[in-house]
Amino acid sequence: MKRLRRLRVNENIRSLVRETSISVDDLVYPIFAIEGNDIKNPVDSMPGIYQYSIDRIDEEIDRVLAAGIRAILIFGIPEHKDEKGTEAYNDEGITQRAIRHIKEKAPELIVIADVCLCEYTSHGHCGLIRNNEILNDETIVLLAKAAVSLAKAGADIVAPSDMMDGRVAYIRDELDNNGFKNISIMAYSAKFASAYYGPFRDAAHSAPAFGDRKTYQMDPANGREAIREVLNDIEEGADIVMVKPALAYLDVIKETRLSTNHVLAAYNVSGEYSMVKAAAQNGWIDEKRIVMENMIAIKRAGAKIIITYHALDVANWLNNER
Ligand code: PBG
Ligand code: ZN
Repeated sequence: MKRLRRLRVNENIRSLVRETSISVDDLVYPIFAIEGNDIKNPVDSMPGIYQYSIDRIDEEIDRVLAAGIRAILIFGIPEHKDEKGTEAYNDEGITQRAIRHIKEKAPELIVIADVCLCEYTSHGHCGLIRNNEILNDETIVLLAKAAVSLAKAGADIVAPSDMMDGRVAYIRDELDNNGFKNISIMAYSAKFASAYYGPFRDAAHSAPAFGDRKTYQMDPANGREAIREVLNDIEEGADIVMVKPALAYLDVIKETRLSTNHVLAAYNVSGEYSMVKAAAQNGWIDEKRIVMENMIAIKRAGAKIIITYHALDVANWLNNER
């Protein structure tokens, strides 16, 4: 008889043979900065997640630093929105000011800036619109302007999440032309048109006013096309590629791992977080065990970096285990 149970008899032997682990080093924590003063707004569909005004954001940054988390992903929520998303590339915009504030307080903390227009446009789409069409080539010019503006504010990494074609190369060029050769690009490469982003759109006030994102984000049915997107972004100069969402797309993470040696990130998105939180609040699941199992699954599939709203909890659980 083959006795596979031999290597499971106690925790020490199980630890010795364990294939996959998760470390605080792997985690990126998303943070929402909102215009205004003295604001800490709970996001109803994401228990534990808040929008902070810049004057209150230090309390969240303190928790991040205390937990040993090395990187955050920042989203800004502007007061003023218009057709062209001008606040996205305003050097004095909410996201730029939040980044400057955070980098002043915590210069070592890696700040990743999401680059998109949907939080800034009145129509909530990720690009410019003409005759109901989401324009590609006109949009990437503005995305590059936003990327340069965010780099100027102090972002270490820019993360285009728009899914326009050719944006990584265009952004790379504009960063280089403006003296930001060492600013990395983390590309949302295989980003699917997913219902799992629902709670995020409450958090970032970015739901599209009409239609959907299916003409730019990917069809959930397409795994092979995801690899084309990833390889294309690598060719265009992406330093880190991303698959998003994570848990319903573990096959895509695995396939990407096998298709390239590039650094791979996975985004454990808002809806994935909310489902776990809701079930946990009902006492239906063991939150810690479920979350850690999800983290390990994403690592086992092949991601190095995990962007997750659970990051603070995961980091604190890992730290308490030592
Ligand atoms: C902006 C953006 C979105 C997310 C990250 N950047 C929303 C979207 O594309 O609709 C989703 C994050 C999440 O659901 O946690 N384009
Ligand atoms: Zn967008």
